[in-house]
Amino acid sequence: SSQPLTDTFGRHHTYLRISLTERCNLRCQYCMPAEGVQLQSKSNLLTTEEILYLARIFVEQGVRKIRLTGGEPTVRRDIVDIIAKIKSIPKLDNIGITTNGLVLTRLLVPMQRAGLDAVNISLDTLRPERFEEITRRKGWERVIAGIDLAIQLGYKPKLNCVLMRNFNEDEICDFVEFTRDRDVDVRFIEYMPFTGNKWQTDRLISFKESVEIIQKRWPDFKALPNGPNDTSKAYSVPGYKGQVGFITSMTEHFCGTCNRLRLTADGNIKVCLFGNKEFSLRDAIRSKCSEDDLIALIGAAVSRKKKQHADINIHNNTVTRLHHKKSEIFESR
Ligand code: GTP
Ligand code: 5AD
Ligand code: SF4
Repeated sequence: SSQPLTDTFGRHHTYLRISLTERCNLRCQYCMPAEGVQLQSKSNLLTTEEILYLARIFVEQGVRKIRLTGGEPTVRRDIVDIIAKIKSIPKLDNIGITTNGLVLTRLLVPMQRAGLDAVNISLDTLRPERFEEITRRKGWERVIAGIDLAIQLGYKPKLNCVLMRNFNEDEICDFVEFTRDRDVDVRFIEYMPFTGNKWQTDRLISFKESVEIIQKRWPDFKALPNGPNDTSKAYSVPGYKGQVGFITSMTEHFCGTCNRLRLTADGNIKVCLFGNKEFSLRDAIRSKCSEDDLIALIGAAVSRKKKQHADINIHNNTVTRLHHKKSEIFESR
């Protein structure tokens, strides 16, 4: 068809998330075990050339925004080169990165020079000792320095904060206060179940609960308008420089407006965060599949995209996964 990136529910996919590596220099408790994840051999990863080839095809098919993710994308040695090459693709509007922020003080200037448009930084705590507890590593000060540098360089960083009961819910107001003098967008993310991360319903802090906590201290905390494909619901404290957002993946999923596709580090296309790998584009490329055939394969994967990932019934203490066997849903980010 002429619109291969439109699915059977009419969702047009204009946003591609490319994972550059499964490796990470942190070991966040909710994300991976202490020993790390089993790594693929390097020959299984997409080469930079393959990434660029695929990115070009996706942009040709209507993608306008690309985000580099991981693992931790900055542990890939040629990250700056990858950004520069992707940025040079005509018709691409936006190249962003989602990073834990550890090495921004070293890499953000070169990444900006390479054309990086946007930076999202994961930060779950404003307390250094707690950072070490959740990430099993040191580095809080460096992340904060990275955030300050991003602001100084003219970015408006989005800070992703996963809320977990009995861990950081006592910092919700501190995070809101963080937006008083900084032009950042703090986004509270509802804790989601991934393989082995010991997700439990009672650790989930819902969007509603968070807003109630904030409005006790700031009664004028109010909703702002949102873009059509935003993952986050925007709010702010009037007079504060930055914004606060809520990513309500669990209690109010946004599958209906999902415009995202994913490319895993080993070259599989995924049409949903919670979905299966659909197809190895890497294998297709390496077996000299033609560009037209690649486009057809991508289109077929998109046409298999389900309406939504799961039904969540928080009050019943259950998560019902639609369409996916339990063992299949867990593939983070
Ligand atoms: P922007 O492009 O700046 O809006 O960022 P983003 O929210 O698309 O990307 P980011 O990497 O910052 O992701 C933040 C969080 O959004 C992730 O931790 C997920 O919880 C959530 N998220 C991103 N994409 C999806 C998706 O397709 N489905 C679901 N359920 N959640 C997603
Ligand atoms: N639930 C919610 N968000 C998560 N992230 C990683 N694991 C989870 C989880 N279980 C977030 C990270 C990062 C983003 C890409 O995904 O904090 O900001
Ligand atoms: Fe690394 Fe991100 Fe996972 Fe933390 S959440 S271990 S920073 S990939």
